[in-house]
Amino acid sequence: MLLEVRDLHVEFTTRDGVAKAVNGVDYSVDAGETLAVLGESGSGKSVTAQAVMGILDMPPGRIAGGEILFKGKDLLTMREEERRRIRGAEMAMIFQDALSSLNPVLSVGAQLGEMYEVHRGLSRKVARAKAVELMDRVKIPAARQRVGDYPHQFSGGMRQRIMIAMALALEPSLIIADEPTTALDVTVQAQVMDLLAELQRELNMGLILITHDLGVVADVADKIAVMYAGRIVESAPVHEIYAAPAHPYTRGLLDSIPRLDQKGQELYAIKGLPPNLLHIPPGCAFNPRCPMAQPVCRTDVPPLYEVTESPVPRTTACHFWKECLHA
Ligand SMILES: Nc1ncnc2c1ncn2[C@@H]1O[C@H](COP(=O)(O)OP(=O)(O)O)[C@@H](O)[C@H]1O
Ligand SMILES: [Mg+2]
Repeated sequence: MLLEVRDLHVEFTTRDGVAKAVNGVDYSVDAGETLAVLGESGSGKSVTAQAVMGILDMPPGRIAGGEILFKGKDLLTMREEERRRIRGAEMAMIFQDALSSLNPVLSVGAQLGEMYEVHRGLSRKVARAKAVELMDRVKIPAARQRVGDYPHQFSGGMRQRIMIAMALALEPSLIIADEPTTALDVTVQAQVMDLLAELQRELNMGLILITHDLGVVADVADKIAVMYAGRIVESAPVHEIYAAPAHPYTRGLLDSIPRLDQKGQELYAIKGLPPNLLHIPPGCAFNPRCPMAQPVCRTDVPPLYEVTESPVPRTTACHFWKECLHA
């Protein structure tokens, strides 16, 4: 397995108390595989990714437990030097906002080239040629003419392609894309997502795709992990989730996707708000918003139930998953 996160716990110390942002997350992604991590804002998707990348804001953040195995080795206990090497060369991250992630006063060619100069020791001239190659690879038109342009001279979609190019430069085995298309309009979103999926397949990388939009992952993900209040509440192969969710929260997310054949109808929204992480409700964290909640849901934290075993295991943390599956 390329990456395996096991029972990860992350807390933030705030003025008002300890916010439990990640509460026992397990997920994995293999080479050539795409895992979509889904959930509303504040569910712990980015914090989990930051822990994997080693860019967690510490303090106030703290890893309170768990393991992050990369190619079988725990990133949390390995020597800083080795961890830095892996972080630089073997994993890369793509963020939502390219404009704030790229350096505004350096041309994109200089930024892409720098990856090769610093990490591969290539000369400036060779590095610049590599930069053009990369820009071609992410399908930026007229790459040779545009290599000297600055980030603000590109459109949002093209900038996101440049971020993808930056991430690919050193041919990492794992890419984490955190809401990579959220800031783009719908048609550009689809193009960038297609590009990412194509490169991922070509290079046989593991891809973790973080999104709050179940609509964008259907075509590209192999499996989905749905997060709620710092926990994975459902985990399954993508087509199985679309066919029949085994958690009422997943069902709510699915019902919230705008559909072309329902134009004009009011869009369903899950009622209520995600919990305050300083005071996660007892029992199932989703119970105050759940249309299927029973008394047991207010008292007992649901264990992870195994819905199906193989080939990709499917799990859900709902006492009433059978009812949900057949609802
Ligand atoms: N730097 C920080 N300081 C304090 N709390 C934080 C910080 N980063 C994240 N958190 C807490 O972790 C929760 C989960 O955040 P995040 O993983 O960014 O959510 P999302 O699922 O939207 O990516 C936030 O709601 C917040 O309570
Ligand atoms: Mg986030």
